[in-house]
Amino acid sequence: MSDGLIRDLTDEEARASLRAKWGMAEEGVIPAWIAEMDYAPADCVTDALVDAVRQGVLGYPPFETGGQLGEAYAGFAARHFGQHVDPGHVRPVVDVTAGVRLLLDVLSGPGPMVMPVPAYSPQLEIAQITGRERVDLFVDPEAERAELDLDQLDRLLADGAQTLLLTQPHNPWGRVFTRAELEGVRDVVVRHGARVISDEIHAPLVLPGARHVSYLDLEGTADHAVALVAASKAFNTAGLKCAQLVIPDDATRKAIEDVPMARNDSWSSLGIVASIAAYTQGDAWLAALLERLDQQRTLLATLLAEHLPAARMRPLEATYLAWIDLRAYGHQRPAELAKERGRVWVYEGDAFHPGLSGHIRLNIATSPERLTEVVRRLASALA
Ligand SMILES: Cc1ncc(COP(=O)(O)O)c(C=O)c1O
Repeated sequence: MSDGLIRDLTDEEARASLRAKWGMAEEGVIPAWIAEMDYAPADCVTDALVDAVRQGVLGYPPFETGGQLGEAYAGFAARHFGQHVDPGHVRPVVDVTAGVRLLLDVLSGPGPMVMPVPAYSPQLEIAQITGRERVDLFVDPEAERAELDLDQLDRLLADGAQTLLLTQPHNPWGRVFTRAELEGVRDVVVRHGARVISDEIHAPLVLPGARHVSYLDLEGTADHAVALVAASKAFNTAGLKCAQLVIPDDATRKAIEDVPMARNDSWSSLGIVASIAAYTQGDAWLAALLERLDQQRTLLATLLAEHLPAARMRPLEATYLAWIDLRAYGHQRPAELAKERGRVWVYEGDAFHPGLSGHIRLNIATSPERLTEVVRRLASALA
């Protein structure tokens, strides 16, 4: 199916192009797990990549802050978030995960890192990899609205934590924190002299009804925060390995620029090409994508009401990743059952919130027909 600029991949095409999401799924299993979309890439991205390959853009990328990529991101941030970003503050990094590691290693004190939980699962291991303790800032699974508990944050920082890894928009809650919420976070962080790493990879995926505010857009954050941004989630280019750091503070930027070559896993030339194309020419495609995802979230609500009426889900304000509480159906590990009995691959919730049973994360960035089949299969496996 195709609605305007968004073209659904057939199963065969998806298996050929999405090597992890589809390629790792057994024949007959519908994959709705990893954060990739079952849509053909934007033509502007494909065309830029094909041109670049034909020109032989296969060597090392420019090792520079700012440049064309900085200009491209600054334009995108101005148009989409109403945010002023100085192009000279934008520096590439291989991906968001490596970027978080780099920032922790180079900028953070040795104290623990605060991790809001549930969290994007690989980030649960990141503090330990950099030799730090992780301390969790839990959101109660019963909460009506997933919010950061500022009193708990205050206690964790008072007890010695030195860094907050903020993910906003949030995966897997699908929340877009408001300016007021972020200001509350900032006030606590500033009181303790802590640092913030703001993972904003999902910012282009804010759905109608919400608005992304970068943590860096708040007053008084430039000296203690770095944002991580990327075109990769919204434009399905994660394999091209190029995210960006936005570092407004001069000394902080210099500290990152000065890391030894061996410390920084370098980004890719084609990743830079794709990011520039997405940021400068991708607006129409992105608008069509958001329209489709908006329709998919409405469809999901309808499907859950019909097939899994006891499922609980908070409003999906951003991303195409739905966090669903299925505890009412009485299964500890619903994703495992869904795969065995329903032949559908979703993430087990405890990958994001260790110890939490009965939840799944479901990727809705597919065709309406596949999403319908996924929910039907989930229901037949669980209900
Ligand atoms: C919140 C969040 N951060 C980071 C990543 C991974 O980004 P990257 O592939 O650039 O490391 C993801 C992937 O889905 C994510 O959801």
